Amino acid sequence: MQDYEGYVLARVLHVFGVILWIGGVAFVTTVLIPSLRRIDDLDSRIELFEKLEGRFGVQAKVTTLVAGISGFYMVIFNDAWELYLQLQFWWLHLMTLVWLIFTLVLFVLEPLFLHQWFRDMAAENSDMAFRRLHGMHIVLLGLSLLAVLGAVAGSHGILFF
Ligand code: HEM
Repeated sequence: MQDYEGYVLARVLHVFGVILWIGGVAFVTTVLIPSLRRIDDLDSRIELFEKLEGRFGVQAKVTTLVAGISGFYMVIFNDAWELYLQLQFWWLHLMTLVWLIFTLVLFVLEPLFLHQWFRDMAAENSDMAFRRLHGMHIVLLGLSLLAVLGAVAGSHGILFF
């Protein structure tokens, strides 16, 4: 019973992490970036973006870790690795893919070069840089929401296949 309570706790933390993280991505995608794109003063646009996105970056790193650790804990607890070999658990593949992309971007690519690359591109052509940034966020948000919908349906028995 105690083991099972640990599993439920992992699930609680998983959903908690996912809500804060993907909710934040939704805010950045549907409110923050579109508002920044309407600012004409290019210096304040990039400055504001760095301040606001920088703060969200810390939250995104922590919540990505919480969702990842609790997610893998559930897979290990159920010894459910073979689910990765079955197509009807596509939502598990998609969740893991979304997590991998964000982990790579937040912990590796951004500190290495992505941040500076975006700054340079914005200095050259701000509208284009923010349009690309917005497009990338729309794709990632779309994949994340699909993973959320598929995961809730899938882990409660609707598998679509
Ligand atoms: C390392 C990456 C991840 C792993 C290993 C993982 C693993 C899991 C597992 C095993 C479950 C099923 C729990 C159960 O049926 O009891 C689950 C549920 C869920 N996951 Fe993930 N997950 C990961 C990342 C994500 C991401 C990135 C999202 C959101 C985009 C997400 C959203 C959800 C949701 C919404 C549920 C359903 C919870 C419920 O209905 O109770 N997960 N995850």
